[in-house]
Amino acid sequence: MVSPLKADLAGPRIDKGLDDVYVKETSICFIDGQRGRLLYRGYDIRDLAAHSTFEETVFLLLEGHLPNREELEKAKADLATARTLPPSVLRLLRSMPEHAPPMDVLRTAVSYMSSFDPERDDMTRAANMRKARRLVAQFGTIVATHERIRKGQRIVRPDPKLGHAEDFLRMLTGRRPDADHARIMDVAMILYADHAMNASTFAATVAASTLADLYSTITAALSTLKGPLHGGAIEASLNTIERIGHPKAAEEFVLNTLRNKEKVYGFGHRVYKTYDPRALILKDFARRLAEMSGDDTYYRIATEIEDTVVRQLASKQIFPNVDFYAGLVFHGLGIPTDLFTTVFAIARIAGWTAQVIEYWEDNRLLRPLDWYVGPKDLVYVPLDERS
Ligand SMILES: CC(C)(COP(=O)(O)OP(=O)(O)OC[C@H]1O[C@@H](n2cnc3c(N)ncnc32)[C@H](O)[C@@H]1OP(=O)(O)O)[C@@H](O)C(=O)NCCC(=O)NCCS
Repeated sequence: MVSPLKADLAGPRIDKGLDDVYVKETSICFIDGQRGRLLYRGYDIRDLAAHSTFEETVFLLLEGHLPNREELEKAKADLATARTLPPSVLRLLRSMPEHAPPMDVLRTAVSYMSSFDPERDDMTRAANMRKARRLVAQFGTIVATHERIRKGQRIVRPDPKLGHAEDFLRMLTGRRPDADHARIMDVAMILYADHAMNASTFAATVAASTLADLYSTITAALSTLKGPLHGGAIEASLNTIERIGHPKAAEEFVLNTLRNKEKVYGFGHRVYKTYDPRALILKDFARRLAEMSGDDTYYRIATEIEDTVVRQLASKQIFPNVDFYAGLVFHGLGIPTDLFTTVFAIARIAGWTAQVIEYWEDNRLLRPLDWYVGPKDLVYVPLDERS
């Protein structure tokens, strides 16, 4: 590539979207976008979905290896104990405006929490790992607690005897989920726990590269996750399904959307050029949840959308991404639609923190260039002389 500083008058090649730019070496997450393969620390996501738990996956991402029995018990106990929110955060959640978007509440809470963490500015690896575990533990409690406050319901405190995913659903809905629902939530959180240098992880990494504290990096990540081209797509996907309303209307809806040159949310990916392996697992969960509920209308609409998009756009290598069926799964688990992106975040906090801590092992300020195309040598005109 031509050095931008030595570029000719036509200018440098601008990497809009940064598609082909590598910013670090990593041993956390590997994606093969052509074959639809995803590995965490060398383990296939399908094996983790079949055998692991969210707690074990968090340990794997942060520590780099699967825990032995003793390490796992300790990791689970530490996470469970740290799930309880400090009174200051509860007060903050109670004071949030009634209509504040849940992602904004989560972002504000994380930002606020930093002021109460005596280790905030301790940049040693050990302190950052402790902060990472506390954040992983508390994200679910923040989201569930705020949901109950805004609905005027009694707050449900964490139960350290329960698994992380199960307890999140219990704190959110006020009921202990059955084993199937708890396991589906657990696996969904495994699937969302990391995804290499995606936009929010990159935002966290940019903040990290300035040696800002861990809370600041996570605030940057949350701001970036919110948009509909990233984590916001889960909500947008379910809204599409709800708007379509009937399986017979799905094909026409998709064709119209494409005719209008609009995106169908939950499809396409910067890295996957085939089926996202997480989408295949979530599709199966969506089918099972539809069977359990006895109403498969939304599931049938979703499969009609999928068939039509894939038929129309396979030549552009557009397939369902993780967010398409996640919306149906979260809906089937009784999670309100405007919480979907926060649910993504309560899992991805594991990957964000692991990635940032890894970046700090070989830190360099991230500082790309932009190519100036505006005027030069303009003469400053005093205010009175401007027309
Ligand atoms: C994820 C996404 C932003 C990746 O974008 P990208 O790598 O920049 O790819 P582009 O947006 O340039 O798309 C390439 C082509 O495929 C089309 N395309 C991509 N995703 C599409 C979608 N979801 N629906 C319809 N067309 C789509 C684009 O219109 C473009 O067509 P063109 O070449 O004729 O202009 C994009 O696929 C998208 O917007 N998807 C919907 C949002 C979503 O689900 N986000 C969650 C991602 S996990």
